[in-house]
Amino acid sequence: MNVLIIGAGGREYSIGLALRKDDGVDNLYFAPGNGATDMLGENLDISDFNKLADFCEANDIGLTIVGPEAPLVDGIVDVFRDRELNIFGSSAQASQLEGSKIFMKNFLARHNVPTAKYIETDSIEESYKFINSLEAPIVVKADGLCGGKGVIIAQNHNEAKKAVGEMLSGDSFGDAGKRVVIEEFLDGYELSVFAICDGKDFVVLPAAQDHKRLLDEDKGPNTGGMGAYAPTPLVNDEIYAKLDERVIKPTLKGMNDEGMPFTGVLFIGVMVVNGEPIILEYNVRFGDPECEEIMPLLKSSALELFYKASIGELASAKIEFHDKYAVGVVMASGDYPYKSSAPTQIIIDDIVHDDIEANAHISFAGVSRDEDGNLMATGGRVLVCVGLGDSIKEAHSRAYGLCGQVHFARKHCRMDIAYQAL
Ligand code: AMP
Ligand code: GLY
Repeated sequence: MNVLIIGAGGREYSIGLALRKDDGVDNLYFAPGNGATDMLGENLDISDFNKLADFCEANDIGLTIVGPEAPLVDGIVDVFRDRELNIFGSSAQASQLEGSKIFMKNFLARHNVPTAKYIETDSIEESYKFINSLEAPIVVKADGLCGGKGVIIAQNHNEAKKAVGEMLSGDSFGDAGKRVVIEEFLDGYELSVFAICDGKDFVVLPAAQDHKRLLDEDKGPNTGGMGAYAPTPLVNDEIYAKLDERVIKPTLKGMNDEGMPFTGVLFIGVMVVNGEPIILEYNVRFGDPECEEIMPLLKSSALELFYKASIGELASAKIEFHDKYAVGVVMASGDYPYKSSAPTQIIIDDIVHDDIEANAHISFAGVSRDEDGNLMATGGRVLVCVGLGDSIKEAHSRAYGLCGQVHFARKHCRMDIAYQAL
């Protein structure tokens, strides 16, 4: 089967890498892809949804997999389905679970899914009143998509009021902040849980833990994620069972009852507070960098998983995972997450260590090629070094072993990925 992957990040690279191991995959395409996905398939310079659908019709694409949220929220799945093309992802309507925090919070409340106490409002007076009723820290969220920057954890009441004021006036996030969610702060440990859904059935993947802050010891500004590992021992069978019964099943049923069956990846941002999983947020896509660790843990066919989910036959898919751990360390540009850095060449040493060669690999993200074909770091999160092992410790040492072989000017990585499990 020919497969098209939409997106340009390390997440999409890792999905491509998993599909490349599959005998069932013939031609693999990325739109737009990055400077390294062309090692796995062919990059396409097409972004218009109808033109992508034209390409799929002309090139006998049997499955399109959508990586990032923006095309999902913008309706790529609807365009493809109208043209009877097979696509893995959520419809525009269902993608509101990520596209609007207000939609998501109200949905959780309607279906009794546990989440932080909140209000949604566009009124300063109402905001101040609710803020005054909470203890600090206080969480303020812009309603719409803000590229992962729309959440402020205010350390005191004044800071929370200031954040609300700046959002509602449109100063901080434009229209995306003209309505806000204000909620209580949850104190616990955070998990990333992914359920592959076909509208009726679902499969839960090994739970991961991301590291959102830029610096070691969870200091510095929030980022898209500086590294992750899976499966995390912080989840036990009891928490998985609670997630199934209290979260995933009511969500899929609720989406069906409300006429927008959920298909694609349900990314559940969980805070475990005193052993209870409380939902921070939903996304409608894989986490990045979590996907880069989960994909290599998949033992059975990645094509079968995504294809069967896309045609509503997940129940008949055979899905198995390796009995291993994966640790992924993000290497980012010097100016991440503030601004992009000037392109700089990436040098990867010849890997002489058999152990690293056999058990670690790179998922490329913010990379391009210069005129001479050299691999360049083009800013943001550049790549993820992923190590696999029989223990987290082993996977961790292989991931960092590989990091030591990768060089570019002003590279930055956290040195403590997976610390909560080591
Ligand atoms: P979100 O985009 O809603 O996932 O928020 C981004 C990050 O902010 C989350 O990954 C959490 O680390 C943090 N966060 C969001 N909501 C809360 C909350 N109610 N309590 C504590 N931390 C939160
Ligand atoms: N790593 C978290 C995210 O992709 O949103």
